[in-house]
Amino acid sequence: MKSLIAGNWKMNGIARARSEVESLIERFGGSMPGDRDILICPPVTLLAAFAGSYSDEGILFGGQDCHAKTSGAHTGDISAEMIADTGASHVIVGHSERRADHAENDQTVKEKAEAALRAGLTPIICVGETREQRETGIAQSVVGTQLEGSLPDAMGVFVVAYEPVWAIGTGLTPTLEDISEMHDFIRSKTPEGTRLLYGGSVKPGNAKEILGISNVNGALVGGASLKAEDFFPIISAAP
Ligand code: G3P
Repeated sequence: MKSLIAGNWKMNGIARARSEVESLIERFGGSMPGDRDILICPPVTLLAAFAGSYSDEGILFGGQDCHAKTSGAHTGDISAEMIADTGASHVIVGHSERRADHAENDQTVKEKAEAALRAGLTPIICVGETREQRETGIAQSVVGTQLEGSLPDAMGVFVVAYEPVWAIGTGLTPTLEDISEMHDFIRSKTPEGTRLLYGGSVKPGNAKEILGISNVNGALVGGASLKAEDFFPIISAAP
């Protein structure tokens, strides 16, 4: 399966971050490799400009969240149609930061994923356990419940990102065995061909071994996607 290396810029990046995208393209010698998919999810303020300028260079763009409704009185929200209208192809839904900061639950995430599919976007649905849940041995059942509640009813192709909450931005990662075990589990719960990403402290130094695990089909990278010098070796490490 073709790898997908996705960068989630979160609430980072203003117009000058454009130079990081340009530097990434330069590092690939002016044209991005076609044997892997490279996706950047910048803040929505940059999405249309980036998708307009760099889609022809072989980079995909995505949103970081969408509303479940198409339009209406939802101040400050962005619909999946609006994200698709920028030229984006993907949208992240159910990131643990959205689940925590905006009290999103599995049902909300499912509705957002279905809205994304209706708009022609590929949703990247995030799941993952907290440190306490990992330590008490219930990581798999927590992720199983999240999958059951958050995945769309057979409507189209989606991506699942396994992001253990305790590994996000901490420099900590599960062991390769633990990642492998969880990805095998997620594989057993998702339709054939679903791409499964690992996210949480992916860095140039650990990307190769994580991306080499079977049933890991790519990565969702936070901090290390902000700088071309870090994101380039991660993309290059994908099989
Ligand atoms: O969505 C990606 C993310 O949550 C992982 O962040 O900074 O640990 O790579 P980071």
